[in-house]
Amino acid sequence: MSSPPRPGIAFNSAAHLADPFATYATLRARYPVCRVEPDGLCAITRYDDVQFAMRRHDIFSSSGFKPLLQPDWLSEECNRGGFMLAEDPPDHTKHRAIVNKAFVTRVVAELIPLMQQRAGELVEAIQEKTDAGRPVDFVQDFSYPYIGKIIGRITGTEETQTLEEISDWIAHLETIPPTRPDDAYIEELEAVLIKQNDYFRSIIRDRRATPRADLVTALVQAEVDGQKLTDDLLRQSLDLFLGAGFQTTIQTLNHAIMQLARQPGLMHDLRSAPALIPAFLEEVLRFNPPGHCVLRKTMESVTLSGVTLPAGQYVLVVVASANRDPEHFPDPDTFDIARENAKQHMAFGYGIHACIGSNLARLELKIALETILQRFSEVSCPADAELPWIDSFLSRGVTQLPLRFQ
Ligand code: HEM
Repeated sequence: MSSPPRPGIAFNSAAHLADPFATYATLRARYPVCRVEPDGLCAITRYDDVQFAMRRHDIFSSSGFKPLLQPDWLSEECNRGGFMLAEDPPDHTKHRAIVNKAFVTRVVAELIPLMQQRAGELVEAIQEKTDAGRPVDFVQDFSYPYIGKIIGRITGTEETQTLEEISDWIAHLETIPPTRPDDAYIEELEAVLIKQNDYFRSIIRDRRATPRADLVTALVQAEVDGQKLTDDLLRQSLDLFLGAGFQTTIQTLNHAIMQLARQPGLMHDLRSAPALIPAFLEEVLRFNPPGHCVLRKTMESVTLSGVTLPAGQYVLVVVASANRDPEHFPDPDTFDIARENAKQHMAFGYGIHACIGSNLARLELKIALETILQRFSEVSCPADAELPWIDSFLSRGVTQLPLRFQ
């Protein structure tokens, strides 16, 4: 047993951001539990250790997310709370049971016509651009307006604000710095957060007054053991759904299209056998998950792969690295839609916090892919090095994706 080594790897460096999977391979082989920059955070990179950390929520507390959700320099009104994501049992158990009651299969299934219609409209518009010889940016022309429409419907935000406003809020959330920024930035951020909170509150008031057949109404009404969510927890749950269900699904869709562009024959195979689309998507989630790390904090000292983490340690649990662990996924850097255990990926997490929106996300992705594959038989995109990648080690995706369809 030893304390975590410090191999001098910075997750926020240009080298890591350019090819994080190369860093993960080194860490898994030589420093499976170690300190990395920024902030001397500890990173866990092997599949078995990642799974252990997610299973042992009594040792690895989700309060590790709190510094990100509730920096101490933001005012109380801007506190995003830690609803579910940053909670541990018993609060998490209680809240997840209430949300589960609302987020039932029927709510997801009712969105199918909306998904099909929106995907159809967007593919039509891409066809028109392609025919006119105009460039296509898949982010602006498909993934963003498609996922935006669905998440806007789920959270009720499609009636209160434009997609641009929502993405401005998300862009601000994604750039919340770990240390106190200057006052001008705090003022700007708080204005955006307060405005969004007001929108959430107005949606909740509206559904209380006029119930509908939608998720927000179901959340407002859901009751377990005589307990309902308070107004503040309802506001936090909309914040969580919008924050957790938007970029993740957009980037998975982007990764799926990039994979089709990069692997000759794949698009043809999926067009000939659309029943393979779900297996393809699981392999996309394994190979290129949109979220690379989740955060935890140790509640007691714990030893993993022979290294002892002290109590109170903030930990990066690197799901993207677990997904490429050769001990669990043979030949992990090869994309293989026939991989038998692809579904054991950690892209949706594991254990009590496993993604509650995974079935919704899988359905959104499947319908998008089916619609695109029905229309186009070829796609090409620039090399990785030429694409604008998101500047974050917590998530991976692109801000623009120029494509050529045929
Ligand atoms: C491909 C898309 C998605 C991916 C890869 C993804 C990934 C994840 C992961 C890794 C977690 C676990 C976090 C942890 O253990 O700390 C999680 C939790 C969660 N996700 Fe997703 N997610 C996706 C889509 C969605 C969607 C569409 C929604 C809802 C609209 C959603 C809502 C949530 C919520 C509410 C949680 C918190 C669950 C809890 O703490 O009990 N996600 N997601």
